[in-house]
Amino acid sequence: METNKHPAFSESTRKGSLFAFEGIDGSGKSTILKKIASWLNDETQHEAISSFEPTDGPHGRKLREAISSTERLSAGEELELFRLDRLEHVTNLILPSLDQGMMVLLDRYYYSSIAYQSVHGSIDPEEIHSMMTAFAPTPNLTFLFDVDVDTALDRIQTLRNHTPDLLEKRENLVTVKSAFDKMEYPEIVRIDANEALEEIFEDVRGYINSFLRAKSLFSNAR
Ligand code: TYD
Repeated sequence: METNKHPAFSESTRKGSLFAFEGIDGSGKSTILKKIASWLNDETQHEAISSFEPTDGPHGRKLREAISSTERLSAGEELELFRLDRLEHVTNLILPSLDQGMMVLLDRYYYSSIAYQSVHGSIDPEEIHSMMTAFAPTPNLTFLFDVDVDTALDRIQTLRNHTPDLLEKRENLVTVKSAFDKMEYPEIVRIDANEALEEIFEDVRGYINSFLRAKSLFSNAR
């Protein structure tokens, strides 16, 4: 298991730290995020806040309705709503929490727009990346939960007791996964999410511990 070795800790002088959890549906990211938040708050001196996108704000609610409906918005409209939802999230919650020195854990962030909206609308992923990073801070680490489509489908069916339209769901997971697979940004850490949840948790915790050590050495040296 490769932990504690990743060099790509996005360097930053901001007080708090930002971590994004990304991956396809069924990758386990939301479960691990909750466990990481409890570990940070209960067993370390750090204060962690968790949040998610799409948010519960007006744009986020509209997006959830549109995603679950059969009549989807156009790719352009969808992308614009995700941008507005994220802008509000960054302004009202993410930046103020980072300024207060908190650790901010995000269940989905702009990497989801790069993956899902590039697939839905054949939009250039780099164009989406530039649009989002124009205002959204780059995470210190982005955990990309890399899971086989069959494992993801099993988790969706058994853990959530939910039977999706298998063929459609499978095709969708395959295309979104390939968009995530192509992503190469320095802050991305790929996590083998086929393992048992306990092992995935230990992997992520290892990276965060290394990051925190590096950050404290860096601030002590200044
Ligand atoms: P959500 O209810 O958060 O599902 P999950 O448990 O899989 O995270 O649904 C969010 C859906 O929105 C999910 O299918 C991914 C999609 N999405 C985008 O298409 N673009 C984005 O920028 C974000 C944040 C999410």
